[in-house]
Amino acid sequence: MKKAFLLIALSASIAAFSAFSVRAQAPTPKKQGIGSSGYTWNAQEGEKLEALKLKGDKANGEDAYEVCGACHLPSGAGRPDGIFPQLAGQHSTVLIKQMADIRAGLRDAPAMYPFAVSLTDPQELADVSAYIQSLCIPAERGQYEAADAAAQVAKGKPLYEKQCLECHGKNGEGNRAKFYPVIAGQHYKYLLRQMTEIRDGKRRNANPDMVKAIRPYTDDMLVAISAYQSSLKMPGAMCTDTAAGKKYRNSRKRF
Ligand code: HEC
Ligand code: HEC
Repeated sequence: MKKAFLLIALSASIAAFSAFSVRAQAPTPKKQGIGSSGYTWNAQEGEKLEALKLKGDKANGEDAYEVCGACHLPSGAGRPDGIFPQLAGQHSTVLIKQMADIRAGLRDAPAMYPFAVSLTDPQELADVSAYIQSLCIPAERGQYEAADAAAQVAKGKPLYEKQCLECHGKNGEGNRAKFYPVIAGQHYKYLLRQMTEIRDGKRRNANPDMVKAIRPYTDDMLVAISAYQSSLKMPGAMCTDTAAGKKYRNSRKRF
């Protein structure tokens, strides 16, 4: 049983990397986004619209997720260096939107692109998103680690509360219905990279209201906000030591 599982896992990761090395050579599409005329944030269309209407099947989603674990890890935790984001516990709406945007060329993610392309079936998209959303958020994550960490977190708190809490929530819980991402449990370096790209107009699928809120922030301020954000914990959604709690969220299960 275990051997069969390992063989499957191994072939899945080999398939992941060969698909990556072959297909990543091809240029990924680029679609105009924020800053271009006629840009509608989160236009409801295509496989995203279909997937959002469906109820995801977690068991099927677990199978579909196997290949993703090669980069995002089987737990969904991603990597502390921030290259591969933490996904566990993210709202399914956000996951579906981001994958559709990467596939459409509205967000650049060359490593991820071949996998976003392989997920066009709305039911499969709903399934994998339901599975990822059900995972508890690992307690360990990459944080700001220099000697002035405590001061940076303290500096970031009021900056976050002033302009960002309104959408991303007190504990970084985001908003499922509004497609606002969960921030709690995310890696510091990933947060800093994304917020810088959003501020500078490089993440073309960004939300215009967020861009307005973040534009006045300097690089130093973004460091402090990222330090604060990566210290957030979402009550009930974090992994616990119990066997059930390790894999699935316990008190906040939404299925
Ligand atoms: C070869 C590595 C790799 C594989 C395999 C991979 N991804 Fe990714 N994924 C990435 C990278 C890198 C990013 C971050 C892109 C960026 O920095 O903007 C990402 C980003 C994402 C995001 C956006 C996260 C956010 O917070 O906005 C989602 C959702 C996602 N991946 C889901 C998946 C799923 C589901 C699979 C499997 C079907 C998968 N990924 C497979 C590398 C990978
Ligand atoms: C009007 C609501 C709103 C406000 C205000 C807002 N955000 Fe966002 N934020 C969003 C949405 C929506 C996204 C996802 C954008 C997309 O569709 O790709 C996002 C994405 C992000 C991401 C990337 C998350 C990921 O998983 O890739 C970070 C980091 C972030 N916001 C930080 C901030 C910070 C810092 C502030 C305050 C300066 C802020 N946001 C203010 C709505 C908001």
